[in-house]
Amino acid sequence: TISGLALVMAAGAAQAQSDACGDGETVIKFSHVVADSGHPKGDAAQLLAKNINEQMDGKACMQVFPNSTLYDDDKVMEALLLGDVQLAAPSLSKFEAYTLQLRLYDLPFLFPTLEAANSYLASEDATALLAALEDEGYKGLGYIASGLKQFSANKPLMLPEDAAGLKFRVQTSDVAVAMIEAMNASAQKLAFKEVYGALQTGVVDGQENTWCNIYTQKFFEVQDGITETNHQLLAYGVITSQEWLDGLEEDVREQFLQILGDTLEQANQQVADQEGDCRNSITEAGAEIRELDDSQRQAWVDTMKPVWDQFEGDIGAEVIETAESYGS
Ligand code: LMR
Repeated sequence: TISGLALVMAAGAAQAQSDACGDGETVIKFSHVVADSGHPKGDAAQLLAKNINEQMDGKACMQVFPNSTLYDDDKVMEALLLGDVQLAAPSLSKFEAYTLQLRLYDLPFLFPTLEAANSYLASEDATALLAALEDEGYKGLGYIASGLKQFSANKPLMLPEDAAGLKFRVQTSDVAVAMIEAMNASAQKLAFKEVYGALQTGVVDGQENTWCNIYTQKFFEVQDGITETNHQLLAYGVITSQEWLDGLEEDVREQFLQILGDTLEQANQQVADQEGDCRNSITEAGAEIRELDDSQRQAWVDTMKPVWDQFEGDIGAEVIETAESYGS
């Protein structure tokens, strides 16, 4: 029967996962929500698993659960503290319940280019911000860069006015809500795995995300086109539980952190190319990408940038200024 077959297949998959871990190895489960490959986070997770499984064989093993198959980004935070997973990398927009300082990353037009964003993410200034998570029992281990975000909707968007009255899916971020409201549009917070269905059924009219999320989740199939606004950064905080990390044997912990740091550095160098490939794939799939001229782009900046004032107190003026300096 079909259900019998499904059971056998599920058992096979579980078997394959547990096979990767030998007796006595520290099991490191990494749960995330995006595609398992062809995406900066999916690829970074795979590379990390490969490096850990090769270099720490006998001591530790990593299993990756992509595509929200294990947890969405809300649930994974609890799962980390319960010890059900050891590694997660939610987008920085999703840490609002834990610290308001990371709202920095949601400020629209903070970084003029992905390059500027990446050089900030690689800096000690950016690393220092992750310390805010420690009070909550988490430990931020680094960043995975992803890309700049683009808008799409069920009608062409060339100017912010075109979005007036539409409803956009946003991540669980009040900065994103304020930004959408500045466009006289309305925002609805939804989990990532629900976005395609919400666009398809008209629960929301539009969304904002990176080229690789738009491509791998096929959002372009259920939208009129994508407008290249590059209005906001999408990046991830790689986090674990402080208690789990402290409980590792010292040599295991050190090797794990070393491999993690090296892998993230390597992975983050690929991001611009990966995003370019996803953009091309969207065009090849026949979807329309709308580019903005300077005055159109300025209209988006003028509409959205005033929301900075609402969040400066949460983030700190100095933190904002420092991040901005990477783009000048
Ligand atoms: C989203 O919810 O749109 C993103 O955070 C998903 C992701 O992890 O890229």
